[in-house]
Amino acid sequence: MYLVSKLMFEKLLRPHIVSLAPYSSARDEYSGSEGIFLDANENPIGSVTAAMYNRYPDPYQHKIKKLLAPIKKVQPENIFLGNGSDEAIDLLIRAFCEPHRDSILILPPTYGMYEVSANINAVKVIKVPLDEQFQIDVPAVKNALEPNTKIIFLCSPNNPSGNLLNREHIVEILESFEGIVLLDEAYIDFCPQASFLPFLEKYPNLVVLQTFSKAWGLAALRLGMAFAHAELVGVLNKIKPPYNINKTTQDLVADSLQYERFKNEMVERIVQQRSFLQEKLSQLPFVEKVFPSDANFLLVRMQKAQEIFEYLLAEKIIVRNRVKVVKDCLRISVGTAEENQILLEKLNNFSE
Ligand SMILES: Cc1ncc(COP(=O)(O)O)c(C=O)c1O
Repeated sequence: MYLVSKLMFEKLLRPHIVSLAPYSSARDEYSGSEGIFLDANENPIGSVTAAMYNRYPDPYQHKIKKLLAPIKKVQPENIFLGNGSDEAIDLLIRAFCEPHRDSILILPPTYGMYEVSANINAVKVIKVPLDEQFQIDVPAVKNALEPNTKIIFLCSPNNPSGNLLNREHIVEILESFEGIVLLDEAYIDFCPQASFLPFLEKYPNLVVLQTFSKAWGLAALRLGMAFAHAELVGVLNKIKPPYNINKTTQDLVADSLQYERFKNEMVERIVQQRSFLQEKLSQLPFVEKVFPSDANFLLVRMQKAQEIFEYLLAEKIIVRNRVKVVKDCLRISVGTAEENQILLEKLNNFSE
């Protein structure tokens, strides 16, 4: 299996990435923590702040990976950490897709960065819209694939629709597509039983993306996770900037990982508020549909969506205007109980 995967990745990767000699940082050449460090041109005296930030951080974030591996039930070698999941998305495109030749396939409406990253890298984007229920049209995906399609991007729960993609469809894509399947599980903490992490070993072409930005409440720290075959994690490590995760982020995330229970409690509260909002929003006269959600936001179809968006904005309530992406729809993140109450009051006033 290991050899098969290595050969598979070598066939899919851009040839110059396979033969690339990576930058070797000072911390690559000596990774011990004891000694007199005169190798990285750092300031030996200290920092201008009280905390000590004068040394470069661990380029491979061993401490976080050691704490994260048992939580996610994977090996540390299967974890790549990026400056947000957005960094992992960009690195995967850069590793596999030759500009002006290869393509990725996405299923709109979905998270915007897949297309933006591909565009930045001059990589063609094939679009196969999700169906009416925001599910994958598998035959249409198979039909649209081109010989040089390297990555299929799936997002489950999907942003902006909020629903999980049908499991059997994901499996069918994993089993039939010979390239990389990137499954973005940014919102999976709100429905953890649906994660594909347990299938990493079965499908060497699977990359699962998760993030600390949502349920963990650490968006400002910018830490994304890509779980994949060790060989593929090696490739991402080879092409990333040497010290891509800063020390503050590494320290604070390592601390946070001790409190998974607290994250789970926040998730529970948010999910309760989601049901409350779902029910109350559905009762508003101008709301046509609140789409079912497995995430921490709701997609809502309404009459006068644009006007309501502007009205809320004037009231300093900022929701996401998705009318250009899904007809007549706003995407509303679940707030605190107080925030949701205010939102509902304002919406009630609109209808009067
Ligand atoms: C589906 C999806 N993936 C990834 C991200 C970005 O996550 P990060 O903050 O880790 O870059 C988002 C952010 O909204 C998202 O909705």
